[in-house]
Amino acid sequence: MTQAQAKYLKDYQAPLFTIETIDLAFNLAGNETQVQAISRIKRTSKHTHALVLDGEDLTVVSLTVDGEAVPYHVSAGQLVLETALDEFELNIITKLDPEANSSLEGLYMSDGAYCTQCEAEGFRRITYFLDRPDVLAKYTVRIEADSAAFPFLLSNGNLIDQGELEGGRHYVCWQDPFPKPAYLFALVAGDFDLLQDEFITRSRRKVILQVFVDKGNLHKAHHAMASLKKSMAWDESRFDLEYDLDIYMIVAVDFFNMGAMENKGLNIFNTKYVLADTLTATDEDYHGIESVVGHEYFHNWTGNRVTCRDWFQLSLKEGLTVFRDQEFSSDLGSRAVNRIHAIKVIKNQQFAEDSGPMSHPIRPESVIEMNNFYTVTVYNKGAEVIRMMHTLLGEEKFQAGMKLYFKRHDGQAVTCDDFVAAMEDASGVDLTQFRLWYSQAGTPIVTAMDSFDALTGVYQLTLKQSLANCASPLHIPFSIELLDAKGHSLVNEVLDFTQAEQVFSFEGLSHKPVASLLQNFSAPVKLQYRFNVDQLVHLMRFASSEVARWEASVTLVSQAIWQNVASLQQQQAMTLDPRVRDSFKGVLLDTELDPALIAEILAIPTASALIEQTESVDLDALALAREFVLTEMASHSEDELIVLYRSLVPVDSTQARALKNQCLTWLARVPDEAEALVIAQFDKASNMTDSLGALTAANVGDLPCRDELMTAFELRWQDTPLVMDKWFMLQATHNAQDVIERLRQLQQHKRFSMSNPNRVRALVGSFAAGNIYQFHRQDGKGYAFLTECLMILNKLNPQVAARMVTPLIQFHKFDLGRQTLIKACLGQLLALPDLSKDMYEKVSKALAK
Ligand code: TRP
Ligand code: ZN
Repeated sequence: MTQAQAKYLKDYQAPLFTIETIDLAFNLAGNETQVQAISRIKRTSKHTHALVLDGEDLTVVSLTVDGEAVPYHVSAGQLVLETALDEFELNIITKLDPEANSSLEGLYMSDGAYCTQCEAEGFRRITYFLDRPDVLAKYTVRIEADSAAFPFLLSNGNLIDQGELEGGRHYVCWQDPFPKPAYLFALVAGDFDLLQDEFITRSRRKVILQVFVDKGNLHKAHHAMASLKKSMAWDESRFDLEYDLDIYMIVAVDFFNMGAMENKGLNIFNTKYVLADTLTATDEDYHGIESVVGHEYFHNWTGNRVTCRDWFQLSLKEGLTVFRDQEFSSDLGSRAVNRIHAIKVIKNQQFAEDSGPMSHPIRPESVIEMNNFYTVTVYNKGAEVIRMMHTLLGEEKFQAGMKLYFKRHDGQAVTCDDFVAAMEDASGVDLTQFRLWYSQAGTPIVTAMDSFDALTGVYQLTLKQSLANCASPLHIPFSIELLDAKGHSLVNEVLDFTQAEQVFSFEGLSHKPVASLLQNFSAPVKLQYRFNVDQLVHLMRFASSEVARWEASVTLVSQAIWQNVASLQQQQAMTLDPRVRDSFKGVLLDTELDPALIAEILAIPTASALIEQTESVDLDALALAREFVLTEMASHSEDELIVLYRSLVPVDSTQARALKNQCLTWLARVPDEAEALVIAQFDKASNMTDSLGALTAANVGDLPCRDELMTAFELRWQDTPLVMDKWFMLQATHNAQDVIERLRQLQQHKRFSMSNPNRVRALVGSFAAGNIYQFHRQDGKGYAFLTECLMILNKLNPQVAARMVTPLIQFHKFDLGRQTLIKACLGQLLALPDLSKDMYEKVSKALAK
């Protein structure tokens, strides 16, 4: 790999030239597609350097400077032009082939429609340009195409002209009044169903809202539209931010590398985050749509109006926008359940990334392929860092910080430091020490010890923090609650934990309290504290915070599983403490709790989540121990589960469905009851949540009805790709000895395609990430299957391939036998002659570690 060069944050230099306006003209004509780009270019300071433009896979048709042909040269990824002019007009015509573009970056085809994806560095596949986020230009775009095949021609901003042309063609012109970096450019051309609505902003401006979906799917666009209107209203009320153009468009495409993209005024979405009706989408899908529609909408201010100076600052927009979409979901739905989901992402995925070969700070310092840094660290840990600032400042001062940030930086490309400075200046809170969170990789470990002096009535909590490769302590907001023996709250506050070791004293107590520590996961750290069973049972019952109750339940059941792993290793019999199963039964029977929260508590940690709690794992013992504990708990509560299940059947709410389906999955572990219930639920289901709930239970419990139900489901939904993804996913996560042979057959299924990322994630991705026992088979067949798929994807779509290599590179916790097998697979990948930069960066780092 000679082309794989890392770039460093410390090498950042302001651009030598800038481009303030660009006129683009697209002539869409399959593999004869041409793009004309007329850019007004200016030298930014007195220097004599050449103009160096980015460009990839482009053929230059013509190039002029101020109307004259001039010499230039093109080398790998660059066009270099020597000129003495300080200001000039560059006119380049390039030719490209969107039909052959399977990487889904730049201009490509999705099901017969043209569309673009320019973040992070895709614009350079459309024309030669200064493809960096600190070059902000005003765009005018003319699109020309066949009228019949492409009746809709869309780009950013406002429509300014359109007309018919000869030969059955037509054109449309768009102009975006806001200067933007190239990564926010978008174009779509195709035939769609259009759902239209409008939103009146707080200052009484009318905004046209449009959602474009594949023909025949109009009825599935309503939830996305409703979510958009809620997002617009919420950003006005909570953040005082109003939309700024006269039109807002969302286009749903089935071929898409990620969830969605916030292109100015023209969002492009994965169909998964747009299309929904109750027959085909689960409650979870509905929630996902609301949050992604919100996320992209919120980018209009945090990302588009104020953008990133360079890609190392990605968390400036992504961490902040994830924080905003989490708050949106929490204000509209259950704050506790949303928080639990966010915590799980950090503990189960981000901690894994941070202890693996791709560990990086939320503001990375070196990058080979930018696409590899759209990570749970930059996004989700980034959001936790924003959330900590929110905790330290409080809502009012935080909002004052946001105000100052926009006042200072509207229309600019800025850094994470600029954001923190605005927060600091507006609030008067010193964030000097806090800034370390931006530059430190890895997960801090916080160890808590406590003692109580009955004579003085003083309770002492000692906190110690440590982080590998970090000499100075972090500023950690550490939220705690102290409960007395009756479950009354004595103390509920956020401690400012700023030293390597710090003692906090609480006076006037009559007994040793039970402490709820790191409430609401107030900082993204690993907490170490020796909770005993009684303390955890107490917290599950009495903690004021629902999230803390859930946390206690996770710790309780995890400890029970690890104890049994130890028993197995010492060849002792497995046992389950009655207090553990009884406390779970208590939760089942608790009529005061939100059913959705009960469902979260019943969702016992997955094997992968458990692995994240340890340094090294005996996977085979873990599998047995987890199975044992679950089966013990389920059989101990069988009658209660059935009663609860039956009571929930007639209730029509997302919360009730969540709990009902969780009960069914538990019951699938005591199969004589489950079979009939599962079949009945599947047959009667009037919505996808219930159908999928029945299938999931059949799949997890490997019930006799499983194959028959799967076939019925396939027959019914074979023409609905997003539902087939659920079916592929169930196939891939089936813990069966022959699953890999079956998956190989399914790769030939008429609805499967290696070139569609949604299909690939459903079949291959969910196998590697979600079928842990079969993926980590001791015979290595799981690793070999993934490796084969990655070799194909490496050529077709490097970005998707690199995202799916994750389970292979996070091998350090497994036994030597498995590690050896995995490394051999990684070695095969590294030896590929045409290995992409994306894959190279991850595989080489994994093998070097
Ligand atoms: N900015 C997008 C978001 O967070 C992410 C995204 C969409 C993306 N498509 C991409 C990033 C392709 C890299 C490549 O909403
Ligand atoms: Zn985003």
